[in-house]
Amino acid sequence: MNIERRQFLRDSLIAGSAALLARRAVFAQSVESKIDILINEPIGTVNSNLYSHFVEHLGGVVYDGIWVGERSKVANIKGIRKALVDSLAKIKPGVIRYPGGCFADQYDWRDGIGPRDKRPTRVNFWADTKYKTSKEYEALDSGPQKYEPNLFGTDDFMNLCNLVGAKPYLAANLRSLNVQAYLEWLEYCNAPAGLTSLSTQRAANNSKEPYNVQYWGIGNESWGCGGDFLPEEYAEEFRRFTAWLPTYGVKLQLIGSGPNGGDLGWTRRFLTKLTEKGAGQVNKLYGWALHYYCGTTGKGVSNEYTENEWYDLLARADRMESLIRDHWTVMGETDREHRIKLIVDEWGAWHNQDPNVPPAYLYDYAGTLRDALISGINLDTFQRNADKVAMANPAQLVNTIHSLFQAQEDKFVETSNYHVFEMYMPHAGATSVRSEFVSPRVSFTRLDAARKEIPASFWGLNGSASISGKMVTLTAVNPDAKTTRETEINVGGTRIVSASARVLSSSDIHARNTFENPHALEPRNESVNVGAEGKLIYKFAPASVTRLTLTIA
Ligand code: AHR
Repeated sequence: MNIERRQFLRDSLIAGSAALLARRAVFAQSVESKIDILINEPIGTVNSNLYSHFVEHLGGVVYDGIWVGERSKVANIKGIRKALVDSLAKIKPGVIRYPGGCFADQYDWRDGIGPRDKRPTRVNFWADTKYKTSKEYEALDSGPQKYEPNLFGTDDFMNLCNLVGAKPYLAANLRSLNVQAYLEWLEYCNAPAGLTSLSTQRAANNSKEPYNVQYWGIGNESWGCGGDFLPEEYAEEFRRFTAWLPTYGVKLQLIGSGPNGGDLGWTRRFLTKLTEKGAGQVNKLYGWALHYYCGTTGKGVSNEYTENEWYDLLARADRMESLIRDHWTVMGETDREHRIKLIVDEWGAWHNQDPNVPPAYLYDYAGTLRDALISGINLDTFQRNADKVAMANPAQLVNTIHSLFQAQEDKFVETSNYHVFEMYMPHAGATSVRSEFVSPRVSFTRLDAARKEIPASFWGLNGSASISGKMVTLTAVNPDAKTTRETEINVGGTRIVSASARVLSSSDIHARNTFENPHALEPRNESVNVGAEGKLIYKFAPASVTRLTLTIA
């Protein structure tokens, strides 16, 4: 069944749900919501790289979120914060993207290798940028966040990847360095030791074994901070950067700098220009990077919002689905066989910096239950589109934007986002299958462009399902701040034998983990009773992210 038809059916189901509810009220004391998991309708394998991460030299991400230094009092492994290593390893990260972001297009990888005391200090991209939000940050006259000391570079990043079991994904500098610098970075990372001067240098610095970096971003946000290019100009640059690349036996997976949100023109014009040299040019691209931040609401404070603003931001996060679908359709105009996959390597909610956090920790704040639901909405969307999306990375790992951790000196906390990643892990590597959710919509009001209140509504329950052997994993978000969703769950054509639940929720929609209260918001396990005929009725808690693990006959 094609996407349009599925969408039509889904919309019809939702529209029809009111009528259905009325009928049910008359004929049976039945439940109001329903989920059908169609295990015979596979979408694709859930790429474990949907659970990837992003680290940029920005604010407190690298210093001191990750890098505390070998002589620090903070427990560390090779200078890397041990608490972060331990927590991150547990959730089996796919890849880690580095060193940016905008920083990547200003970064010379050669500054970050060799003896630390010989490495140069440079001005950081984020030191003086149009994105700056606080006067205090402007006034900072020193500090690694402003003047990049290069204490953490390629070798240290590879150590981080090794420690947590992640694959590296490096972004080449396309704006301010030439192709030669990129070729040499490739050589430093991937050439066998002893074969070239650079691989010998790598062996002396850190590792005899090549790093075998597969994933390479060819620039970042080339429509903006990565060069301010037109799509046609970037296509020419892309061809030049990728015309000849030494593989050293590694299958390189090149990722083009894709669109900002809904900019379909960027996607269409890039691919049209790229393929002027022949249709085969699409084979150069493994992925096309899509960036979408759903933003914030009101005054932009992560933990101050009304119930309407809660729904408003969740609805904006949900836009990811149509962005994926729309760019995919446009990509298909040129890449008819859909060889190129989408890589959503920056996503999340983006609030203003918490004024109580030191100013150098740019865009740092504690995410709340609302951010956790946004994580669930995004991860479910990627899974429902497992045939299209090959990698996804929230921005960013620690101390900035939609982070999984906050860390300051000896303080460390796992945020609400971290817990959602932990809950969703069983999907990785399983087969994503189609699922139908029917539930009453939630109504709210939001401000339009003219800041006038207008009525809006949002789905009442949505999620994704995957299957691995006899185990079905269903994850779902109930956005309703107050209503429990009693739901009938069917696994098409089979019986549910047993079930268990893991739930992240709170009676306080502003709940969050902080250094002072690190366990305020954590998932809890629940036992679940399955009905006599292998049918399941489950009550999804209000304002929740839930994982149901079902064993089928
Ligand atoms: O994640 C922060 C910034 O957002 C990245 O550096 C950039 O790519 C995007 O605009």
